[in-house]
Amino acid sequence: MMTTATSHCSQSARVSIIGAGNVGSTLGQRLVEKNLADVVLLDIQPGRPKGLALDLIEARGVERHDRTIIGTDDYAHTQNSDLIVITAGIARKPGMSRDDLLKINANIVVNVVKQAIAQSPNAIILMVTNPLDVMTYLAWEAADIPPRQVLGMAGVLDAARFGTFIALELDVSIMDVNAMVLGGHGDLMVPLPRYSTVSGIPITELMDELTIERLVERTRNGGAEIVSLMQAGSAYFAPASSACAMVESILYDRARILPAAVYLNGEYGLSDIFIGVPACLGRSGISQVLELDLLEAEQIALHNSATAIRKSIEAAKALLGGCQT
Ligand code: NAI
Ligand code: 2OP
Repeated sequence: MMTTATSHCSQSARVSIIGAGNVGSTLGQRLVEKNLADVVLLDIQPGRPKGLALDLIEARGVERHDRTIIGTDDYAHTQNSDLIVITAGIARKPGMSRDDLLKINANIVVNVVKQAIAQSPNAIILMVTNPLDVMTYLAWEAADIPPRQVLGMAGVLDAARFGTFIALELDVSIMDVNAMVLGGHGDLMVPLPRYSTVSGIPITELMDELTIERLVERTRNGGAEIVSLMQAGSAYFAPASSACAMVESILYDRARILPAAVYLNGEYGLSDIFIGVPACLGRSGISQVLELDLLEAEQIALHNSATAIRKSIEAAKALLGGCQT
């Protein structure tokens, strides 16, 4: 059983969102209301995606679009998706680190990726579930598809937060701010002040070191700050916007350069890992990884972040191995 409505667009991009929770449903809303794609919302709770789909279908009369929205618990309805976004899992709770999520979410991610890719073997996978970089790696292994077709969303969100704090501090429009954050989506992420600009001017020329360090710290704690305010659940508006920007660049071959968790094969001196670096996002997934010229301290910070991700990947693999016996 599903809730559905038909589209009048013959050649529609199709995005399946696995996990119709806060991030997944908000992303679905953005995609259809921006007229970017037809959407399938799938969740393990059978009623939730169907109710959300019906709600979004009813909103079409006001929002005025013809996008198809399907709510389901059956992977058959995701068949031939161009893009699969994984938001299934549990969200962070107060006092819980992203790595605390590892145990529960590793099993969920491997399970849902296998079912989704079986229906859409040529799809690109965009991972959102935390801990992000580890889940992206596990998704790639579970899907068994080329690494350029798998990527994770975190850098766009972390850079959006850093950019927001820069704009607030300088009392300038966010429209002219471009921030850059490398590394894993965790406490060891690497905001890059030298590559963060206001109308092309690096913020290192606009703020003193202590101010920059304060903004960098707030960025590193950006997710936790919202968790502690909300008490139940975690951020989802900015995460959904961030995933939406990535989906748009991929589906419409915009070739945007965005920070994303991508597979490295020697770039930045790192191999066999998914970690946040700037990459070109288009119809084939990742067409190019951009290698920035880093200072020694920045390079060390990136490698520290990579070491933490590797440890978590090993822990997750051990856990998954244990579960299979
Ligand atoms: P949520 O709890 O609102 O939604 C998660 C949904 O996944 C629920 O509806 C749940 O029923 C579903 N689910 C659980 N197991 C499933 C399964 N086996 N198959 C299908 N659906 C399943 O959580 P929210 O806020 O939407 O966050 C989702 C994930 O995204 C979390 O892991 C969160 O930490 C992560 N996240 C990552 C961000 C990033 O920057 N990468 C930003 C924000 C959230
Ligand atoms: C965030 O940064 C929870 O990872 C999520 O908001």
